[in-house]
Amino acid sequence: MKKIIVAIDGFSSTGKSTLAKQLAKRLGYTYIDSGAMYRAITLYFLRHEIALTDKTQIKNAIEKITLHFENNEICLNDENVEKEIRSMEISNLVSEVSALEDVRTFAVAQQQKIGKKKGLVMDGRDIGTTVFPNAELKIYLHANEKTRTQRRFDEMKIKNSLITLDEVRDNLKHRDLIDSTREISPLKKADDAIVLDNSELTMEEQLEISFNWVMDLKNSN
Ligand code: DC
Repeated sequence: MKKIIVAIDGFSSTGKSTLAKQLAKRLGYTYIDSGAMYRAITLYFLRHEIALTDKTQIKNAIEKITLHFENNEICLNDENVEKEIRSMEISNLVSEVSALEDVRTFAVAQQQKIGKKKGLVMDGRDIGTTVFPNAELKIYLHANEKTRTQRRFDEMKIKNSLITLDEVRDNLKHRDLIDSTREISPLKKADDAIVLDNSELTMEEQLEISFNWVMDLKNSN
């Protein structure tokens, strides 16, 4: 059967990565977490104290960055940084870094290169609108604020026992605002994306629904 590209977009902590990973596994496809790429770039910027207002520093920094995935884990210049990029420090800065034009040009080019092979599930904010506007299936994932905050809190609590629900909610709201109002490729539903509200769905239910969408598409072609 012909391989396709599945684009999954939505706000932070709607469960995109979990769904995308499971769907890719079930289809035997590659999974790419595009947010991890922006997080790894943010980590590099933090480590090297790159000023986000200095275009030359940004350009020079990007030239020194290589990204690749190993078993779904992101490597920055061949170092596995999967754990480090999930910290609150990175979460607090990543929306600002990912709004920069040069950063987006670099990340999108890498994502499109990976997509040449098809057989791919990629999640992010602009996958269905900018990275793969011709993706065969576009899912726009939605979950209500309470569900998203609780999910993110449960995830963060394992690593940081001092974190509070308010802190997590504030970070989500801050990122929602920047991600959906930035000038370049803001988060928005592609016209031809299907909305999936998973606030009341189990992981298995969402997986079944999206897997069936892929099968329907394949059978109709
Ligand atoms: O999916 P995530 O929360 O790990 O993504 C981290 C940040 O990266 C998010 O706040 C916005 C940015 N991002 C983006 O701008 N475009 C994407 N395709 C994916 C993520």
